[in-house]
Amino acid sequence: MVSKINSIAVLGAGIMGAGIAALAADKDYKVLLLDINEEAAQKGKDSMVSDRAPMLSDLSKINNVNVGSFDKDFELIKDYDWICEVVVEKLNIKREIFEKVEKYRKDGSIVSSNTSGIPLRDITENMPNRLLADVCITHFFNPVKVMKLCELIPGEKTAPRVIDSLSYFLTNVMGKGVVNGKDTVNFIGNRIGCYLILKGLHQGSKARSEGLSQEEIDGIMSRPLGLPPTGLYGLVDLIGLDVMYAVGKNLAVNLPEGDMGIPYVNLPVEEQNMFDKGQLGRKTGGGFYRIQKLDNGEKKKEVFDLTTSLWKDSEKASIEGNLNLILEDSVRGNYAWEVMGSTLSYAANLIPEIADDIVNVDRAMRWGFAWSKGPFQILDELGPLNFINKCKERNINTPTMLEVLLTSGSDKFYSSDNKYLTIEGEYKKIPK
Ligand SMILES: NC(=O)c1ccc[n+]([C@@H]2O[C@H](COP(=O)([O-])OP(=O)(O)OC[C@H]3O[C@@H](n4cnc5c(N)ncnc54)[C@H](O)[C@@H]3O)[C@@H](O)[C@H]2O)c1
Repeated sequence: MVSKINSIAVLGAGIMGAGIAALAADKDYKVLLLDINEEAAQKGKDSMVSDRAPMLSDLSKINNVNVGSFDKDFELIKDYDWICEVVVEKLNIKREIFEKVEKYRKDGSIVSSNTSGIPLRDITENMPNRLLADVCITHFFNPVKVMKLCELIPGEKTAPRVIDSLSYFLTNVMGKGVVNGKDTVNFIGNRIGCYLILKGLHQGSKARSEGLSQEEIDGIMSRPLGLPPTGLYGLVDLIGLDVMYAVGKNLAVNLPEGDMGIPYVNLPVEEQNMFDKGQLGRKTGGGFYRIQKLDNGEKKKEVFDLTTSLWKDSEKASIEGNLNLILEDSVRGNYAWEVMGSTLSYAANLIPEIADDIVNVDRAMRWGFAWSKGPFQILDELGPLNFINKCKERNINTPTMLEVLLTSGSDKFYSSDNKYLTIEGEYKKIPK
C-alpha cells in the first residue's frame, strides 16, 4: 500500500497535464508523461522549457520527465505511485482511460482526475471496488505553476489514506493550497466562479439598456469588488466562450433541481451569436475585445458592441468605489448587487452541499480565481446584517449561512481570534 508518493504518471500532456508534470519534475520526482502519441507527449514536455513561459523553475529538471504514448507505453504506469488523468474534458474518453489505468496499475497506487467539473461518480460508474477505493479528483487551476489552488475531492468509497497521502503531497511537496470539496458538479471554485460569470453575462443586457458600457461593466467587475483586472468580458475572452458554453451544458445536466444557477446555463442571445460564428476570445483573435494593429505599427483596443454587433474603439472605464458598491442604490450598484450580491447569496446557500465550511469556499475563490477576499470575507466587510436587510428589501430568502449567523446571534463569519462560524452556528479555529 502506498502512503508516500515517490513517482507520478500524468496521462495527457496538454496545458494542464504538462503543468502538473512540470511541477512534480521541478520537485525532483520521477514523472511519466503519456498522450495519444509520442509527438503530443513530447510537445507537452517541450512546453515545460519554452522561452516565453517556462513551466519549470529549474530547466535541468526536464530530465525527470519521460514521455510515451497511450498505445505503446500504458503498462509503464505499473511503476508509478500516483496516476493523474488530465485528458480532454469528455466523459467517455476519461472513462476509457480509467478502464485502462485499472488494468495496468499496481495495487494501492492512487488515481485521480483533473476534470474541471464532471462528477467523479460519472467517470467511475460501474468500475471495480479496487479502483473506487483508490480514486479521487485533484483539480488544479491554470496556470498550474502560478495558481495556488488544488481542490481535492473524494468519491463515495475513497479510502481516507488516499486523501491523506495526496493532501500531504500536494501541500508539502507541490506547495499547493488544498481545499476539500465534495463530488458535486464543478466542485467549489468553478461552481461559484462560473455562476458569477454566467449571471454577469445575463445581467449585462439589462445593464446596457440602463446605459452601462461593457467597459464600465468590466470596471465594476474588477478592482472595486476585489476581482482580477480582466473584469467580466475580459475574463471570458481569456477562458474562451466555447469553454463557457461547455460549462453551461455540463451545469444544465448536473445542477440539482431548484439551483439558483439553472436560469443562466445557456449563453445570452448576443453571446450565443458570437459563439455560433466562432468569435470565442483571445484564442480566435478576438471575442468581446480585440487588438488591432494600425498602419503606423501602433496597436489599438476595440470592443465588440453587443447592442449593435459592431466593433468600435474601446474606452477603458476605471470605476471608483469598493465593495460597498454592492449595496449602493445606482445603476452600477444594481449591477454589482445582481451579479456579485447574488453570487454571495449563492455561496451562502451552497454550504454544506459543496463544502463543509466557509473556509474552504473562501480559499477556493482566493486561490483559484484570484479574488482578494472570499465570499464570506466580503459579507463580513459589508456587514452581514446589512446584506440580509437588502435581501429582505428585494424579497430574497435569507441564504443558508446568513440564517445560521442570525440564529447563532453572531454578526460576523470570522472572529478576531482566528475562528470561523460553522454550519452548526459555533466558532471553530481556522485550520492551517
Ligand atoms: N485549461 C484549463 O484552464 C483547465 C483548468 C483546470 C482543469 N482543466 C481540465 O484538465 C483537463 C485537460 O485540459 P487541458 O486544458 O490540459 O486540455 P488540452 O486540450 O490542453 O489537453 C488535452 C489532452 O488530451 C489529449 N486527448 C485528446 N483527445 C484524446 C483522446 N481521444 N484520448 C486521450 N487523450 C486525448 C490531447 O492530446 C491533449 O494532450 C480537462 O479535463 C480540463 O477540463 C483544464
